[in-house]
Amino acid sequence: MTRILAVSGSLRAGSHNTALLRAAVEAAPEGVEVELFDSSGIASLPLYDQDLDLAFAPEPVARLREAWGGADAILFATPEYNGTIPGGLKNAIDWASRPVREGALTNKTVALAGASTGQFGAMWAQADLRKILGIAGARVVGDELPVTRAQEKFDREGRLLDAELFERLRLLLETLAAESIPVEVTA
Ligand SMILES: Cc1cc2nc3c(=O)[nH]c(=O)nc-3n(C[C@H](O)[C@H](O)[C@H](O)COP(=O)(O)O)c2cc1C
Repeated sequence: MTRILAVSGSLRAGSHNTALLRAAVEAAPEGVEVELFDSSGIASLPLYDQDLDLAFAPEPVARLREAWGGADAILFATPEYNGTIPGGLKNAIDWASRPVREGALTNKTVALAGASTGQFGAMWAQADLRKILGIAGARVVGDELPVTRAQEKFDREGRLLDAELFERLRLLLETLAAESIPVEVTA
């Protein structure tokens, strides 16, 4: 079983990006399990501070590193805020990127999606996310998955209405699983 963690860059309850990741849980192909990472795991992090990092890892940081580091692969879905990824997501990636070459993102197979209410589907945010995750040591696989006019793609309960998009999600998860390097379970 390949365990994929789904991380949304949005903290709001009605998030289209989080709704997209809930659809990813449903779209998981056989042999793949998608688990949604609770957004409180990003909201509770202190701002990255190298002094804090070198002294001791605060509890929310330790939890983040364990969850991200323990997944076989990660699917990120990011909103676009002022042309790039939200600050909270960047902060989480900064924490997860350390210790350098031994961090939770080192050699981690990751893929990207992004939903926005405009007509570009968070493409700038996804391009930046690809760059940032690569620098942080992750292996980004697959193409961007832009969800445009996100407010029209989900019903009131947040369920994905677009069958083609659902299929693209499934294919992206297949790629992610095929390229992933399984994390050894030590327990
Ligand atoms: C602070 C802020 C900045 C935004 N900047 C952009 C932007 O640069 N490009 C864009 O396409 N949408 C932008 N939006 C609109 C978001 O795409 C939209 O709010 C989206 O639904 C956010 O994702 P979520 O539903 O997952 O929370 C912005 C929204 C906020 C709140």
